[in-house]
Amino acid sequence: MFTCSQRLAAAFAMLVLGASAVRAQSGPGLGIPVTEDDIAVWDINVLPDGTGLPPGSGTAAQGAEVYATRCASCHGEDGEGGIGNRLVGGDAPTAMGTRKTIANHWPYATTVFDNIRRSMPFDAPRSLSNDDYYAVVAWILAENDIINDDDVMTAETLPAVRMPSLDRVVFRYPAMLPADPERIERLWTRPGVADDDIGDPYRLRPFEVGD
Ligand code: HEC
Repeated sequence: MFTCSQRLAAAFAMLVLGASAVRAQSGPGLGIPVTEDDIAVWDINVLPDGTGLPPGSGTAAQGAEVYATRCASCHGEDGEGGIGNRLVGGDAPTAMGTRKTIANHWPYATTVFDNIRRSMPFDAPRSLSNDDYYAVVAWILAENDIINDDDVMTAETLPAVRMPSLDRVVFRYPAMLPADPERIERLWTRPGVADDDIGDPYRLRPFEVGD
C-alpha cells in the first residue's frame, strides 16, 4: 500500500519528468550530427579543372530556351545586359577600366558554370536542373563564339573549353594553380616585364604551397 505522501511524491516526480521531456523536444536541436546528405546539398564547388561538376548535359539550342525564359528579362534578349551584367561580347580589355565580361575576362568555363548554378537566376538561385545549367552555359559560350552551336557541354567537355582570357590572367599565387609547369613558367617570366616593374614580392620569389 502507498501512503498518501508517497503518492504525492510519485505524482510530483512524474510532473517534473514530464516537463523536462517537453523542454527537451522544444530545444534548438543542437548536437544533431550532420549527415553526408545534409552536406551534399551545400557542397557544390566546381574547381577550374572540372572537379565537382555534376552529371548532366546541354547544348546551346536547349540553352536558348532556358535563357529566354529564365535569364533574358535581366540580362537582355541577346545577352547585351540590362539589370544584370552583359553576358555576350564586351570590349577588348585594353584599359584598367574596361568592363569585365565572360568573353574578355573569365579564365575558366567551369567557373562560369559554378557561378551561374550557385547564384542564378538571381530571383531563384539553384532552381534549374543540372541539364538546364549545362545548356544555358553552352548558349552563353556559343553566343560568345567560344564553342560551336552543336557542342554538348558535360562534366568532361566543359573543362576542356579554352577561354580567350586564360593567358591574360596573371595569378598572384601561380604555385597554387593546378599543375601546368609550362604555363606557370610563361606567367612567371612575362616577356618585356622586368621583375622590378612587377612590384609584387610574391611574384619575385617562387614558393612552395604551405610556405
Ligand atoms: C532578376 C534578375 C536576374 C535574372 C532573372 C538572372 N540574373 Fe544573372 N545577374 C543578375 C544581377 C543583378 C547580376 C549581378 C550580381 C552581382 O554582381 O552580385 C547577375 C550576374 C550574373 C552573372 C555574372 C556576370 C559577370 O560577368 O560578373 C552571370 C554569368 C549571370 N548573371 C547569368 C545568369 C543566367 C545564366 C541567368 C538565367 C539562368 C540569370 N543570370 C538570370 C540578375 C539576374
